[in-house]
Amino acid sequence: MSTKRTTQILPVHALNAEGPGTKTLAQWWADERSRGTPEAAAVAKAAEALRTTDIPVAFPTETVYGLGADATRSDAVQGIYKAKQRPSDNPLIVHVDSMDMLQRILNPADEKYSLTAASEQDMIPPIYRSVIAKFWPGPLTIILPNPPHSVLAKEVTSNLSTFGVRMPASPFARLLIHVTDRPLAAPSANASTKPSPTTAQHVYHDLHGRIDLILDGGPCGVGVESTVVDGLSNPPAILRPGGIGLEELRQCQGWENVVIGYRDSSLDVKEVPRAPGMKYRHYSPRAKVVLFEPESDPASVANHIRKDLENSAVCAHNIGIVRTRNWGKYLGLNAGHESSEQTREEPETKATLDLFKMPIESPCGSSPKTILKEVYDYPLGSDVEAIARGLFSALRTLDSIGVEIIYVEGIADDEGDLSAAVMNRLRKAAEAEVKA
Ligand code: TXA
Ligand code: MG
Repeated sequence: MSTKRTTQILPVHALNAEGPGTKTLAQWWADERSRGTPEAAAVAKAAEALRTTDIPVAFPTETVYGLGADATRSDAVQGIYKAKQRPSDNPLIVHVDSMDMLQRILNPADEKYSLTAASEQDMIPPIYRSVIAKFWPGPLTIILPNPPHSVLAKEVTSNLSTFGVRMPASPFARLLIHVTDRPLAAPSANASTKPSPTTAQHVYHDLHGRIDLILDGGPCGVGVESTVVDGLSNPPAILRPGGIGLEELRQCQGWENVVIGYRDSSLDVKEVPRAPGMKYRHYSPRAKVVLFEPESDPASVANHIRKDLENSAVCAHNIGIVRTRNWGKYLGLNAGHESSEQTREEPETKATLDLFKMPIESPCGSSPKTILKEVYDYPLGSDVEAIARGLFSALRTLDSIGVEIIYVEGIADDEGDLSAAVMNRLRKAAEAEVKA
């Protein structure tokens, strides 16, 4: 067994919030370094570790926290798979700080990544010009042909002939890449199968003892991963919904007919829960997640939950509810039964966690009796950006409380916005998808 590592969290809030302003990354870094701030020291330490060790470093991006490694070194990239315990047949996204760095990947002078390699020609297929101009830096990953004699470690591409790349909007992420002077391969910094991390504490929870350093830039603004698009296929396709929505993409030249190239289970919603374990788990907390489709009638949802809780096979004592747009007024799930300790009103805009108790006739254990189930209510608000931002945190918070089931109120995902990403992640997390 490998020895446990001591994991340090170093704050970089100011750098992440301030950004370079009108300066270049190089000028910004020169100024920060000369000021000798603790945050500059944290960046220098992280960059050194990324360049010289095979232990990945966790850092904030605008989407989720990434677990970064030098994308040009096999041993370093293998370190990501080890820390996450992720199967290595899944290609990783490469993060660059600039178009210049991307051109250096596309025009390798030799097999070694070199600062001096000339960017002689633009190797980026023309279809990407419009989306790069509009969305970079930002939560959009594009698929490019991996050039002959590529500098990228084969573990990044899982031996595919293409690679995925993005330039993050987070100024801190770009600064770290700049100072490291290497493209960084970075999947989300969670343990494989767990919800993606949107705070440094989430990363610590999953990976402490496995990595040395977590850079803490505060909570991520987007909350779901980047949209992955393939412009090499005709028509171009969205391979993963994310921070950039379908409608925004369609407004770009060459992307008017972009198609959905991913599958989620929106087309085969089951009336009854699927057998647990039938699905590959992803984005999943320990608790069982039951996702209600948005068209579900809230009154039927309340009935469904109540029945579930009365069912001896379910036997959950602590329940989590993640609600979005319509469940607020129906959350008096105990209406008509014994008194509730709190009555719910309109959904709050800020996610706070409330506890109320619900008396349920439950045959759990030996004989039927009325027990008080603890219900933790996590309102995400109704705005799609707020829902995306808070989603993974809600699942993780409820998990840390120890709830056994989480009921989630789905949202309509046909608006062409972030809602497709929200529902895609929820469908992957859910063991059961229900229309009540
Ligand atoms: O927002 C994000 O993109 C986050 C943050 C940390 O930047 N990163 C992230 O990376 O989600 P990762 O490595 O977990 O994303 C991998 C996904 C794959 O599951 C696949 O969907 C897509 O990116 N991908 C990567 N390379 C690909 C390729 N060559 N062809 C098709 N899809 C690819
Ligand atoms: Mg991930």
